[in-house]
Amino acid sequence: MAGKIYSRPILFTLMVTAAVLAGSIVMMAYPMLRPDMHPKLEKLRPFTPLQLAGRDIYQREGCVNCHTQTVRPLRTEVMRYGDYSKAGEFFYDRPFLWGSKRTGPDLAREGGKRPDSWHAAHFENAQAIVPRSNMPPYGWLKKEKLDPVSVKAHMDGLGMPYTPQQIAELASKTEMDALIAYVQQLGHAVEKPRSAGGLDLAAVNPFSSSPQAIAAGAAIYIANCAVCHGNEAHGGIGPSFVDKKFLGEPGYGTDGEYFAIISAGSDAKKAIGRPGLPDGGMEAFGTQIPPDGIWRLVSFIRAQQHHEATEPAGVEKREHETGGKH
Ligand code: HEC
Ligand code: HEC
Repeated sequence: MAGKIYSRPILFTLMVTAAVLAGSIVMMAYPMLRPDMHPKLEKLRPFTPLQLAGRDIYQREGCVNCHTQTVRPLRTEVMRYGDYSKAGEFFYDRPFLWGSKRTGPDLAREGGKRPDSWHAAHFENAQAIVPRSNMPPYGWLKKEKLDPVSVKAHMDGLGMPYTPQQIAELASKTEMDALIAYVQQLGHAVEKPRSAGGLDLAAVNPFSSSPQAIAAGAAIYIANCAVCHGNEAHGGIGPSFVDKKFLGEPGYGTDGEYFAIISAGSDAKKAIGRPGLPDGGMEAFGTQIPPDGIWRLVSFIRAQQHHEATEPAGVEKREHETGGKH
């Protein structure tokens, strides 16, 4: 009897299919319908209409082909991108956009890392900011207006909450605004590991104003900071280190504070209680630049301030040049 089934291929195929299907239903379909398979992080909010519109553009433009949105629980990834992804972060992601290819970096923790103006400039022309980038230009998104009617239909379809006012506001927004709003909320539900905590704000720069340290700091500055603070530290996306508007008087801030801000970004600025841009946007470099390098950057920045302080005439001229992007 047992041997017979093996000599009847069609019956055998049907029975195998039935057995596999029954197993799949028990193992996959049933758990999928249970609520505990759909966790949701406490701080997770549904998308706003603008963010959802941006998400649609992200899908339409195929950003997912070059960018993942999930940080694996591996030490190297957590060091590079931030906390690893949790199941509860994707509650409102329909469909999820995890992706599988990283031509560009993972974006799961991109929100708040950089100011809106950085993203606008980067979408316009990525190579102007990262010369070796192969990311295509998306400047034309600035000219495309959003369609409130279709966004509303999408909000309804996905059952996401919105107010009529939010929908009405979309009429004045472009696709670029939407995409930036979407990118800026990525990863908002998890605590960022950065903070000023643990950094000694009273620490003294071991290199002080040594000319070697300033020269080494200048090279690190050009490679990492010039894109936002300007080639000659006049500012651009980030504040200038030479004018008096943002930094105040020369010497403003202790060495330790500068060290903390460069290591831990805008979060440290807030923790220290210094005034800043509303959307923050100073990146945390603590995992990318070793402490010695950060101290050399502090030497370099201080040298810029002293330079300006002793040459007040230069300020006018340089401010004039700051109009364009560096
Ligand atoms: C052909 C592949 C490709 C496509 C398509 C692409 N990107 Fe990129 N992207 C990259 C690469 C490479 C980088 C790293 C270099 C750079 O910053 O430009 C990058 C960087 C980024 C960054 C900065 C990330 C960081 O933390 O440094 C963001 C944000 C971004 N892309 C968003 C997008 C969005 C949104 C889209 C779709 C509109 C998109 N990208 C489409 C390749 C791509
Ligand atoms: C992505 C753009 C960007 C990059 C890259 C960047 N910064 Fe910033 N930086 C900013 C922005 C924006 C602010 C203002 C942040 C705020 O107000 O919270 C800032 C603020 C600062 C401040 C604080 C100024 C003050 O007085 O409060 C320092 C210091 C600083 N950056 C140093 C650096 C150094 C050094 C580097 C390179 C290692 C660097 N930044 C790279 C955007 C950037």
